[in-house]
Amino acid sequence: MAETQLDVRGLGKAEGYRALRAQFDALCEGVSDQIALMSTMSCVLHFGFGHLWTGFYRRVDESRLLVGPFQGTIGCLEIEIGKGVCGASAAQRKTVIVPDVNAFEGHIACDSRSRSEIVVPVFDRRDELIAVFDIDSEFIGSFDEEDREQLESWMEWFAR
Ligand code: SME
Repeated sequence: MAETQLDVRGLGKAEGYRALRAQFDALCEGVSDQIALMSTMSCVLHFGFGHLWTGFYRRVDESRLLVGPFQGTIGCLEIEIGKGVCGASAAQRKTVIVPDVNAFEGHIACDSRSRSEIVVPVFDRRDELIAVFDIDSEFIGSFDEEDREQLESWMEWFAR
């Protein structure tokens, strides 16, 4: 099956998410493997919106996140839960939006071009935290409540 990678940068955010979601849902219908879902989700959202870094950090034990499927330049391999934006989201089990990474104390800079970031926790059907989903942008203030709402709904795939 040949699929064309959508680029939705010309659309509004809501419409962009809608188009990408339709593509993702069609691609992953019937798929339950977490790695396949994480890889495809990273790819669809990364190239769809042209982000700087898009991907997952998986929770490997009580205190650590390890890099998972992603698109972008090399990220740090391991993040302690509680540290950085990813670790904060994992510890609080909540989405964290950082409009300006320089104003977030403890931000872990994997790519010096990163200016803003959103991290969304990922739960399985037993409500266990299995990962966080991280998107970095090279622009200040790229993410807002609309991204939170949309991405939290994408992450519900893992609780099915
Ligand atoms: N900035 C993140 C680290 C991960 S990279 O951006 C890919 C953080 O502060 O947790």
